Formats: sequence, structure tokens, C-alpha cells
Amino acid sequence: MIGKETVDRILEASRIEEVVGDFVDLKRRGTSMIGLCPFHNEKTPSFHVSPAKGIYKCFGCGKGGDSVRFIMDHEKYSYPEALKYLANKYQIEIEEIEQSPEQREADSRRESLYVISARAARFFSETMWETDEGKTIGLSYFRERGFRDDILKKFELGYSVESWDALIQKAVSEGFKESFLEETGLAIRNDKGKLYDRFRARVMFPIHSFTGRVIGFGGRTLKTDKSVPKYVNSPESEIYHKSNVLYGLYFAKKAIREHDNCYLVEGYADVLSVHQAGIENVVASSGTSLTTEQVRLIGRFTKNVTILYDGDAAGIKASLRGLDMILEEGLNVKVVLFPDGHDPDSYVHKIGSSAFRTYIEKNQQDFILFKTTTLLKDAGNDPIRRAGVIHDVVESIAKIPDSIKASVFVRECSALMQIEERILIAELNKLRMGKGSRKEMRQDARQDVPEPLPPPDLMYPEETGAGPAAGSVVKDSDEHQEREIVRLLLNYGHELVHWDGITDTYIAPYIISNLADVTFDDPTCKLVIDEYSRRMEMGELPTAQEFIQSQDQKIAELAVSVFSSPYVLSENWFAKRKIYVRNETENMRATVLGGIFHLKKRKVERILKSIMDEIQQEKDEDNQAILMQRYLRVKEVEKGISAFLGSVIVK
Ligand code: GTP
Ligand code: MN
Repeated sequence: MIGKETVDRILEASRIEEVVGDFVDLKRRGTSMIGLCPFHNEKTPSFHVSPAKGIYKCFGCGKGGDSVRFIMDHEKYSYPEALKYLANKYQIEIEEIEQSPEQREADSRRESLYVISARAARFFSETMWETDEGKTIGLSYFRERGFRDDILKKFELGYSVESWDALIQKAVSEGFKESFLEETGLAIRNDKGKLYDRFRARVMFPIHSFTGRVIGFGGRTLKTDKSVPKYVNSPESEIYHKSNVLYGLYFAKKAIREHDNCYLVEGYADVLSVHQAGIENVVASSGTSLTTEQVRLIGRFTKNVTILYDGDAAGIKASLRGLDMILEEGLNVKVVLFPDGHDPDSYVHKIGSSAFRTYIEKNQQDFILFKTTTLLKDAGNDPIRRAGVIHDVVESIAKIPDSIKASVFVRECSALMQIEERILIAELNKLRMGKGSRKEMRQDARQDVPEPLPPPDLMYPEETGAGPAAGSVVKDSDEHQEREIVRLLLNYGHELVHWDGITDTYIAPYIISNLADVTFDDPTCKLVIDEYSRRMEMGELPTAQEFIQSQDQKIAELAVSVFSSPYVLSENWFAKRKIYVRNETENMRATVLGGIFHLKKRKVERILKSIMDEIQQEKDEDNQAILMQRYLRVKEVEKGISAFLGSVIVK
């Protein structure tokens, strides 16, 4: 763990405009800076950075946070990884503290595995570029295959000599422990206890984590002898988990984001060739069949995958079912086929880079439509086989979490198969009913959409209910009112109450004590309120920054949302759009009491509704009368609140 003091130093040093500025072209606009949002596609900038507040906020997709959050979101780093990134950027030395000795040892062992892997990569690469054997065998092999030197260097390719212990000798002479060589699988101990190199006389492909550290290797033999395995790969280790690594991702991620698309190929050589052809958003699943984790990893960068298929028709048919899993993760899948058994690598070299790019552009087809036509062709006129095709295709469509998207495919496939839509829909429903878990899945997927928009009074009228985030706002809840309370706490909690004869209390405790009888329903708002109350009981008033810096992403996002009303980020924003905003600080009493009593009113309305429901369910007249009495009493309370609201809020 990184010590709190160090964390504070990193946060203090980090200037949001510099951190974001490394990735986004920012233009000054009044007190804030704006640019094109890196998290969604847009043509007009709605991405705001406030140097004064140390936060960014996109009013298009809703993403927002501080410097750490930006790096986590943009680079897909974990919290400590993002802190390390910033520490490195601002040259702050990291002291890791509060670790148990076991933890420290595990960390330093893992670090050693990274170090030895990086060292081995350098050894293989130096061998290839600098030794006779390396040059005449390894380097010339790559060059003959048409790889340019800059690509060989970029991907840190290398060569392992024909020897049982070249790497071991080198590493041990430099003081590395043999155990690290064994744990990374770079060396293997045989039955007799003798250690030997795993990779011998092979060209070496280092495998990088998506943060760019070497974690494993693939080694390709140059022999054509069928008894020698073509590839030898590093085994799983503490730093290399095959199922969640994609070969080439580190070099592809920038382009994936830029093009909002990821090409998926099968082999290391395909990644290199396609990358070299100028299509840099390409990765391979490296030796395993594609896993759910790998698909999710892609999903963090883009929702669009294009598979560059090699292989013959039979091979393709066999793999069709395996790809449903990509649909299941909510990604859009396209496929490109290559003629005459070519793979991407051989095809690039055959037709050249620019023709290849055109080919890909022209020949991509949607996966489901591709699957439909491929299977249909195969089934011919056989009615039973055609029925099988319908089932297979609907099975794929049923995997799509977004039901609107699914219904589009139903329509298109019904046309392709010349079958009525309602038959497909019936089949689809049957499949969905069969799986109780579907619904939960979809809910999960929902949580991945950008966070809800700020409360309506912080939005521009033309954007209310629009934009990708609108769908995630839960309509029938008290969320808006609850968020408004959080907004008031974070923006004004430290100011003094000076109305109704009260002078010696801050706004935060005033709000909290006035809401003691109210339960918050929104889990994130509840967390903030609970934390706020807890801190107040300790005699402290937490600051907005503390919530913005929360490691709980939901809390941080809520805090940023409520803390970044547009007229604070850019004072003339509203003026430019000719939208009038009441200056809420001029009448603090109305603002604060309005927030409190709107929420109370909401809660009371809910109670009324639930009593009314009860009355309607109740058969016994006496009980109905009792409930009615209760209803009227609560109704009085509601009237009181409404009247009070009317008197304090001058709209
Ligand atoms: P080239 O033949 O040099 O073009 O290699 P390639 O990288 O295109 O590999 P290929 O298309 O033959 O296979 C695709 C991927 O499957 C490779 O990149 C490896 O990750 C994996 N693979 C292929 N052969 C073997 C093997 O013999 N053993 C293991 N473990 N993996 C293999
Ligand atoms: Mn190949």
C-alpha cells in the first residue's frame, strides 16, 4: 500500500489540466478548459476541466473525476497503478507502507518476476541484434518474412540461442535467483534436478501486460520438423495469467480508443503484420481460445470487435458458436474473411498494406448476419436443417443484452431467412424464458453505462433526457432529491447558516439534523450521507475533495457530478446559451430549505401512495377506515410541507 502522506503529495502535485492534457487537446475557456471527450465520440467539445477544482467532467457522457480517476478510466489502471503513474509523472518517490511482511515479500517477489522477465526480453533482443547466431538465424528469419526493423524493435522481438543454459548463465551471473527463472517458467528443472532454458533456438515474442511490462513469452521454432512444437509458450505464473492477457494490447490500446474498434486475430505474426500495415488496433488471444476475461478486457476500451478470420469454411463453422460469448458481453461483432485460406499475415504480404486496409474496410460484415448466411448456404433447401439454422441464429441473438439491438437483428434475420418476424420472436422468448439469469445479466450490463446525469436543474434543457446516459436515470425514485442534498452538502456544507435567527451552525449539520427522520434510498447517496454523519459525530466536517478522491468509484462520480455544475466550471456557459439560472447562493435559505423539503415531500408522497395501495387491497371496512385516517393525517403533513415550500421558494 502507498502511504497516505505519499498519496497526498501525489494528489497535491497533480495538475488536472496537465494530466488530462497529455491525452486531450484542451482549450482555455474562461476559468475552465474544454476539449473533445476521450470517453465517447463527439464532434463538439463537452468535456470540461476545472484547474481550480482539480476535476474533469463530461457533460455529454457524464464521466468525471479527479486526476487519479482520469488515469484509471483512460488507461484502465487500478487505483495504485494510477497513483504510480502520477508519481512517475511528477517525480514523487513512492514509499510503500503499512504492509505486512508477507505482503511485502509477495510484492517484492512479484516485482522480481517482472524484472527477470524484462531482463530476459532484453537478453533475447540483444542476442538477435548483436550476436552472429542471432543475426544470421533470428533476425534474418524475421526480415525474410517481411517485418520491418522498427516493428521488431517496437514489439521487442528477439532470439534464444541453441543452448541449454545461455539465459540461466547470464541471469545467475547478474545475481538473479534461480527460483525466479523457475517461477516465470524461463527455466525448467528436470527430474535429476538440473535447470535448463525453456526457450532454445527460437524467435522470441515477449508478451506484455496492458501496462507494458513483459510478463511472458512465446517462442517460435524455425525448424520445419513436425516433431518439434511450433510454439513454446511461458506457463502461467504469478504475473502471467493467460486467460486475461491479449497479445499486442499494450501497443494497440491508443489506436483502439481512437478508432473505437479492436481487430482480433489468431497469431503473433498476424498482430505484427497487421500493425505494420498501419492498422494498429489489433490484438491476438495468444495461444488460448478467446476467454470471457479477454473479451471484457477489450470491452474496457471499445464495444466494437472485428474478427479477422483465417482458416477454411469448416474451421469457421466450428468457431461460430464460440463467438456468441462476445455478443453476451454486449459487444458488437463483425467478421472479415480472407480468400483461399489466407491468414491476415499472409494476405497483407500478398496484396500490400494499403490494399489490405481497403479489403478490410470493404469486407467486414456483421457477425450475426454472416452466421445466418453461412449456415443457410450450408442447409440448402432441407427444411429440418433450415429449422436448425433458425434456432442457432436466434440463440446468438438471445445473447445480446441490449433488447433494442436484438430486435433489429430479428428483423434483418427474418428477411434473410424469409421467415416471419413473429416466429423468430417466439423462439427468442422461449430461449429467454428458459434462462432465469438473463434478467440479472442485463441489470449488470446496465451498471456499466455512464453514471446518471446531474440533477435536472444542473442540465441544459435541450440535453434533458438526451444523451447516452439518460437511459440510466432511474425515473421513479427519489434519486434527484437525494442527489440534491448531497450537492448542497458538498458545495455549501462548510458555510454558516444565517437565517431564522440561527448563526452558530454550519449548513451541513443543519441539513443532516433536519433529515434525521429520512432514509436515503439511493445506495451511493446513502453512503455519502452516512459517512458525512459519521464524521460529524467525530466533530469533523469532511470536504468535497475527500469524496471526489474516494476510492469507491460510485461515490467519487457522484461527488464530481454534484460538484461540477456547469456555471461554476465555466461562468459564461449559461449566458452563452441564453439560459437563465437563479443564483442560488444569493438566497441560501431557499436553496437549502428547498432541498430539504423537496426530499421530505417526496418521501411523504411515497408514504401516501403506499397507504393508498393498502387501502385498495384491504377488504375489511373497519381496517379501511383506520387506514383512511392515517392517510389523512399524513396528507396534512404533506400539505404543510407544500405550503412551507411555497413560502420559502420564490421561483
Ligand atoms: P506463423 O506460422 O509464424 O505465421 O505463426 P502464427 O503466429 O501466425 O501462428 P499460427 O497461426 O500457426 O497459430 C496461432 C497462434 O496459436 C500462435 O500465435 C500461437 O499463440 C498458438 N500456437 C500455434 N502453434 C502452437 C503450438 O504448437 N503450441 C502452442 N502452445 N501454441 C501454438
Ligand atoms: Mn501465421
